[in-house]
Amino acid sequence: MMYNFRNFTNVANFVFGQGSFNQLGAILKQRRKPTSAFFIFFVDDVFKGEALAQKIPLQGQDTIVWISAQEEPKTSTVDLITQQIHDDFNTLPTGVIGIGGGTLMDYAKAISLTLTNPGSSTQYQGLDLIKNKGVWCACIPTLSGTGAEVSMTAVLSGPEKKLGIKCDYTVPDQIILDPELTKGVPPHQRFYTGMDCYIHAVEALTGYCSNALGDAYGEKSLALCRDVFLNHENSYAPEVNEKLMIASYLGGLSLTYAQVGVCHALSYGLSHVLKYPHGIANCICLNQLEDYYGDAVSTFHQMVEQHQIPIPQHITKALPEEKLVALAKVAYDLDHMWLHALGKDWKAKMTLEKLVDLYARL
Ligand SMILES: [Fe+2]
Repeated sequence: MMYNFRNFTNVANFVFGQGSFNQLGAILKQRRKPTSAFFIFFVDDVFKGEALAQKIPLQGQDTIVWISAQEEPKTSTVDLITQQIHDDFNTLPTGVIGIGGGTLMDYAKAISLTLTNPGSSTQYQGLDLIKNKGVWCACIPTLSGTGAEVSMTAVLSGPEKKLGIKCDYTVPDQIILDPELTKGVPPHQRFYTGMDCYIHAVEALTGYCSNALGDAYGEKSLALCRDVFLNHENSYAPEVNEKLMIASYLGGLSLTYAQVGVCHALSYGLSHVLKYPHGIANCICLNQLEDYYGDAVSTFHQMVEQHQIPIPQHITKALPEEKLVALAKVAYDLDHMWLHALGKDWKAKMTLEKLVDLYARL
């Protein structure tokens, strides 16, 4: 009998706990054996001049590349930074470390791979297109929700599409989950990105690719999100930050074994065409998706109400028809999401016209 189960990769090493960022120096020290060893840190530029930046354990040729998280990660930036590293150093770095939210972690994951796989990152957007293992990669979230710290995807916006570099090699080798790093996140950002996690769990649990393994992670992630956003209004207490960080981690894992669905497919269009950041794009979409995720949308409305977070509405009202079609095309191309959300015959249930109508509601 032939079996065709995927042989998944997981994060090899992880540290969890308040203040665990301080162990980064010791973790890197184990990899500094050759004297030529050096690391490149990709860090969210909001930390420039902040206490976190002072704690980055730089040595020798180590370099910090500051990156803005104002825009979604782009293939052009990945290609530019990869070329810069090749130009500036004689050898490959020993490793790369992403410090920030999903954007910074996705940059670290993608550049780890493009350093060892020639050509533009655009040619690797898709499933299993990467040929060579990347350089060692660590991810350190400073914002909870995206699950990028554990997922096998580095999501990139390219000239033609928003699509992840997805393969076993994309999974980071090391993560440090230090909830203390998230205490300065502004409330809106915390909510939008926290909802990304909530939506990962809702979508993973509601679809045709669901299974006991993905469900186990998804259910706990969902329970933690509900607890954080329904029982702890605006609380930045250490134990609440811990819960949200673990919800993010488990939500990311749930997606390894299941998939996202309708909300993420629609949100990819908003991010790619209208440049909305991922978290808020998801919130804009979920807000109008009662038909697909009924009770979960009611709970979302309750969370929005409790936290008094503005969710933009009527954003597509003034858009010309061709823009709506452009949005619909981005979403329609994500067939792995539709396959999970609507089943093998998804094309009979979802059409470009129906997508245009859905976008017109947002
Ligand atoms: Fe997401």
